[in-house]
Amino acid sequence: MSRTGAEFVVVANRLPVDKRVHPDGTVEWKRAPGGLVTAMTPTFATREGAWVGWSGGAGPADAPDTVDGIDIHAVPLSADEIVDYYEGFANSTLWPLYHDLLVEPVFRHDWWDTYVSVNRRFAEAAAAAAASGATVWVHDYQLQLVPTMLRDLRPDLRIGFFLHIPFPSYELFTRLPWRRELLDGLLGADLVGFHLPGGAENFMTLVRRVCGLETSRDPVGVRDGLGTVRTASRTVRVGSFPISINAADVAAQAAAQTGRAAEIRAELGDPRTILLGVDRLDYTKGIDVRLGGLEGLFAAGRLDPAETVFVQLASPSREQVDSYIAVRNRIEQTVSHINGTYGTTTSPPVRYLLRPVPRNELLAYFMAADVVLVTPLRDGMNLVAKEYAACRADHGGALVLSEFTGAAAELTDAYLLNPYDERDVMDVIEAAVTDDDDARRSRMAALHRQVLDFDVDLWATSFLQSLAGAGAANEETA
Ligand code: ADP
Ligand code: G6P
Repeated sequence: MSRTGAEFVVVANRLPVDKRVHPDGTVEWKRAPGGLVTAMTPTFATREGAWVGWSGGAGPADAPDTVDGIDIHAVPLSADEIVDYYEGFANSTLWPLYHDLLVEPVFRHDWWDTYVSVNRRFAEAAAAAAASGATVWVHDYQLQLVPTMLRDLRPDLRIGFFLHIPFPSYELFTRLPWRRELLDGLLGADLVGFHLPGGAENFMTLVRRVCGLETSRDPVGVRDGLGTVRTASRTVRVGSFPISINAADVAAQAAAQTGRAAEIRAELGDPRTILLGVDRLDYTKGIDVRLGGLEGLFAAGRLDPAETVFVQLASPSREQVDSYIAVRNRIEQTVSHINGTYGTTTSPPVRYLLRPVPRNELLAYFMAADVVLVTPLRDGMNLVAKEYAACRADHGGALVLSEFTGAAAELTDAYLLNPYDERDVMDVIEAAVTDDDDARRSRMAALHRQVLDFDVDLWATSFLQSLAGAGAANEETA
């Protein structure tokens, strides 16, 4: 049977654009939040294809037909499905479980039922969008059942799956009442990818012990040295592919922002040191960790609040979920406590903005920052760290980076810290501020080189080449 459709299809919970309806009823399409969209959008620069996803609103499917040349296939979610599938199972069960139980995951069978039916809808939409023999790339924790559902509908497809967040150990994952179903869902892919080898190895341990399948035992390498899982009918490849950014573009765009960066420094009162945080407002990001470190340094007289400004740019996220409401309240209380204690009416040391900042403005902040603080308690990768390193072709600035991010495995020249150790947090922030220029510059030169050499094109190309090999091997044995 011949069919029309796209040869390359991305399936992700989010479309690259997010629908905002203003109080006067006007509709605006904005870039969707988060690292997945940041990384995936440039992979279409050299590939034609379609993107299947949700537009961020309730009700009938609604989205532009194309965005930057990508064919858009919108998947509708009802208001109840947003509560049970998106806010519920995806972001109150899987997200906290996969991020080391930073908040207690909630296990509800009615949420699971909706997760299954919404995953089926995404699989059906992908099946309708894909040409015969097409490559379909499914993304992230919201859609772990799609690979097997899609293979049942369309055995002709090459199916890859990539997880953008950490993949937990056997001990954590097996708490899930639906552990077997989730693993079976992923095993419909020809290739299952994780950021780090550790996630790939956790997955292989789980399929051995929970599904009773045979797997390879050699360590999984980065971008090659794939693991294998033998199912009844196929071999599933398992690999590590650390995601990145379009570093050369970011560097070029940032270079055009040096004038604006100087204005920002002046607007902030020309302080000796500008510290910067840039995050979705999420409890995984450790915004409270860096605020605690800063307050400790002010209290001990090790940093002078009169000469220091910390700018926290926070993008609101998952605002109906209780744990996100709680972290927002905690952060806002801490910001006002620090400003009340260490600021004056005209120069509060913390400047906190709760809204997404336009891309060029964000790059200007990176160019203005003397130190960027990336302090998550757990993060699959963290693209903010890579964006900052890409911006600083001038080798200025310094990056403070939590060891509990995927990025720390590659950005080893950053000022690394353990976010659970408050003394270490203070010492490392202080070192990043006060180290001599040569030490700071040689670290930033190495970081900048690293992100330019290992960019998002390498990530996408290495994943898709491994997928082509895995798919071809399964077709031969079919
Ligand atoms: P996550 O995927 O968990 O949100 P990442 O650090 O991997 O975290 O990616 C976040 C992306 O969102 C980056 O591209 C970053 O620049 C962007 N971003 C985060 N906070 C803001 C903000 N306040 N304004 C604009 N963009 C932001
Ligand atoms: C992380 C997740 C993505 C998600 C993004 C934004 O990057 O890995 O899957 O899209 O956060 O979160 P949101 O819930 O707004 O889509």
